Amino acid sequence: MTTIIIEKIGRAALIRLNRPEALNALNRQVAKELADAAQSFDRDPDIGCIVITGSEKAFAAGADIKEMQPASHREMYGQDWFADWDRFAATRLPTIAAVNGYALGGGCELAMMCDIIVAGETARFGQPEIKLGVMPGMGGTQRLTRLIGKSKAMELCLTGRLMDAQEAERCGLVARIFATAELEAKALEMAQTIAGFSRTIAMMTKETISRAEEVSTVEGVRFERRMFYSMFGLEDQREGMAAYIEKRKPEFPRD
Ligand code: CAA
Repeated sequence: MTTIIIEKIGRAALIRLNRPEALNALNRQVAKELADAAQSFDRDPDIGCIVITGSEKAFAAGADIKEMQPASHREMYGQDWFADWDRFAATRLPTIAAVNGYALGGGCELAMMCDIIVAGETARFGQPEIKLGVMPGMGGTQRLTRLIGKSKAMELCLTGRLMDAQEAERCGLVARIFATAELEAKALEMAQTIAGFSRTIAMMTKETISRAEEVSTVEGVRFERRMFYSMFGLEDQREGMAAYIEKRKPEFPRD
């Protein structure tokens, strides 16, 4: 039994979390399968963007509480329980989280590991771990704070309150909101747009924007400049700019 369903649609990969009995709670098998799938798409030249989604009721209702509840500190620390999430977060292709329903705890954290979050109108986001006597453990304290600021991250993590899609868009967590029934199609359309460009340039753009979260602005701008200059060593730049000048559609290398 696998916990995810994978489809290739055009140049996009759609990964659907598939544990309906547990509102897509993220156990260790999900983490391993998602990380393995994302890594294999990184190596697949036919795929240029990955969409992760859940069901209409839940993107994912958190890390699997039933799996974690009996774990000891020795097991958590010794096995580095969440290590596979680092592998997923290191995906090199652009990733889109298409969130309908609940994105709570680890579910919200998985969405934030993705590069773009799009939400259905009824999506709900939150970090309610404090109610379970713990705190976010899959990157939420760091990524949420960077994305929406300290005061709001503190408020959400310390009260466990959920926020709706509109509030999530206002505070910068969500890029776009779509009608619930259209969410998947809209996310795939966005993915096909991204995947239609140069795969290498899209990866380099992702890597460079991601730097903004890690280094100072001065160092980030330096990194951007070096990456930009290096693009002039690629056929992608010559073809993209020539196509613009010649008023035709570019034919990017399919690497
Ligand atoms: N882990 C394990 N099972 C879960 C789960 C989770 N995170 N979330 C839901 N489920 C299970 C429920 O236990 C239930 O199973 P049973 O039928 O066997 O009882 C099934 O999914 C359906 O859920 P509900 O009956 O609760 O559905 P609902 O519509 O009444 O409520 C909900 C929905 C408000 C999301 C509720 O399920 C809920 O509060 N879930 C837990 C949310 C949460 O606390 N998430 C944080 C987890 S800890 C974490 O993520 C740590 C971290 O940072 C890494």
